[in-house]
Amino acid sequence: MDPLPAEKSIDVLLKEKRRYPPPAAFVKAARVSGPAARARLQARGAKAPEKFWEDAARELSWDKPWRRVLEWKVPHARWFSGGKLNVAANCLDRHLDGPRRHKAAIIWEGEPGETRTLTYLQLHREVCLFASALKDLGVAKGDRVAIYLPMVPEAAIAMLACARIGAVHGVVFGGFSAESLRDRINDAGAKVVITADGGWRKGAVVRLKDAVDEAVKSAPSVTAVVVLKRTNTDVAIHEGRDHWWHRLTAKASADGPAEPLDSEHPLFILYTSGSTGKPKGVLHTTAGYLVQTAWTTKNVFDLRDTDVYWCTADVGWVTGHSYVVYGPLACGATVLMYEGAPMQPRPDRFWEIVERHRVSVLYTAPTAIRAFMKAGDEHPRGRDLSSLRLLGTVGEPINPEAWRWYRDVIGGGRCPIVDTWWQTETGAILISPLPGATPAKPGSATLPLPGVDADVVDKAGKPVPPGSGGYLVVRRPWPAMLRTIWGDDERYQAQYWSQIPGMYFTGDGARKDKDGYFWILGRIDDVLNVAGHRLSTMEIESALVGHPAVAEAAAVGRPDELLGQAVAAFVTLKGGRLPSPELKEELREHVAKAIGAIARPSEIRFADALPKTRSGKIMRRLLREVAAGRAVQGDVTTLEDLTVLAALQKDEE
Ligand code: WT7
Repeated sequence: MDPLPAEKSIDVLLKEKRRYPPPAAFVKAARVSGPAARARLQARGAKAPEKFWEDAARELSWDKPWRRVLEWKVPHARWFSGGKLNVAANCLDRHLDGPRRHKAAIIWEGEPGETRTLTYLQLHREVCLFASALKDLGVAKGDRVAIYLPMVPEAAIAMLACARIGAVHGVVFGGFSAESLRDRINDAGAKVVITADGGWRKGAVVRLKDAVDEAVKSAPSVTAVVVLKRTNTDVAIHEGRDHWWHRLTAKASADGPAEPLDSEHPLFILYTSGSTGKPKGVLHTTAGYLVQTAWTTKNVFDLRDTDVYWCTADVGWVTGHSYVVYGPLACGATVLMYEGAPMQPRPDRFWEIVERHRVSVLYTAPTAIRAFMKAGDEHPRGRDLSSLRLLGTVGEPINPEAWRWYRDVIGGGRCPIVDTWWQTETGAILISPLPGATPAKPGSATLPLPGVDADVVDKAGKPVPPGSGGYLVVRRPWPAMLRTIWGDDERYQAQYWSQIPGMYFTGDGARKDKDGYFWILGRIDDVLNVAGHRLSTMEIESALVGHPAVAEAAAVGRPDELLGQAVAAFVTLKGGRLPSPELKEELREHVAKAIGAIARPSEIRFADALPKTRSGKIMRRLLREVAAGRAVQGDVTTLEDLTVLAALQKDEE
């Protein structure tokens, strides 16, 4: 593990001065109202965490009650064992008996501008039809299904249909390449792939089906591909293997019951980057996941039946699972879903959507906020944003300047901001303000939620004093935690439960201030956070060395005003290959093609050699400094050849 970035802690100290208590009007009506109310919840959660989560579990509909709240043998947890429920039934069926029956479940807007509304009753019907269609294709309980769709209601329908029959979905972000898709399909052993003829993004059609055709060529587990007609793009149809979504559902039955599933039945696998090797298939299961995503949706977003709730994440990321689909639908919310790019066709598209649909809760990423900030105040100012009452952020630390802009320009000074810290692995928000109860400090995710035992510790697991940097850990299991890495339980244990004895290690560095507020300092492993998404330096490096011209490569993050971190890659070339601007471009494209556009390096630097230790390890710490354009500080005595460093610094264009 790398030492914590020292300069960041200093930065953080400067940030913490100002406090923003929740606006009085908000506090009055809030679900958790005032600091004392949070303190009471906090005390309940600390005193009897299992009892706390058991109470939360009672808010769901169970087919069979649980026998034990928690069975825990480090590092394996079983929550609510003996119990049975169905996630889709909790998100849909149980809302049909009351006033939510004809309430909008999903209000969708496509990038070209069309809109569609699905009530709970209509969404339920679509999910039932598609669940039957999957069964007709031979999908059974426990089978894996890959979903590679744009942000259309069918993405939620496909997820819920899997959940309804107990199939395990693995959503792959539509921006990932055919190769990334293939690796994920193969790792999960998916039987069926669900895709579309295309999706709209920045005014163009993303040809998803082509990528699926490419991926499935070397994915022997796949027996069927379902294709949704979204863009009317011409696609190749492989007779016998490919099926149009609308044809399948036209002949499917609408009354398949939801399958009662064990609390620990697998719900989904979602791949995320780790510091070494291939992406990890994070496995989430049924009951605990839903209990905690529902609880956090209700309380962190102070959700009401009258809200129009918009989480802007794509379903390809965990935020899209927990806070577009499962959490909000379990709460009976009206969820807004938007297909396209944030500034398409104009920079005020988001604000136009807020105005048109009277969005009241908006949950987005700091990187988007910074981009809007840069685009200019006139865009939000030109729209009526008075429907907004609560704002949220997730994905990376938010810089105080962006926080204040979000509060003032978007929230009109009247909306609390919830800065929510969590991870693909945690399944649900763990550290966050409760909007009517927690005074905010811009840049801090504030406090662990009730029932969550997070702390900042040293390598031995000892809490560090207030103000000192340390490792962010969670001491006790929480209901929505990952259960393992698909097919690699050893890696699960080694990655999360072995680095700091007996605790879950998040991979983040953090600091607590004297009020107990958490300040996330960023990843301490070789993982980058680009625009709120995790990328492994290893994956980028293996993509680069896969190019015939490259001998060696090292990818590091450098601070970037918009993305948070941008990818900078140092590359040495094979004998006979010469550096050129064209080759740089080619290498950038090469990475984008191998992994996806999100991994495309912002910068490629050619070097004659990379700085290494005497034992041959690349000294990334030095490369990070060089990439950031900073003077290299700290110990360089282990550096094998000092001239390498000098040459790199000279090469700054
Ligand atoms: C990593 C998790 C959880 C959904 C989005 C990303 C960083 C996340 C915050 C925040 C500071 C944050 C952490 C974390 N992160 N939220 N509010 N403040 N950092 O999911 O790809 O699993 O990444 O994102 O470094 O470990 P992910």
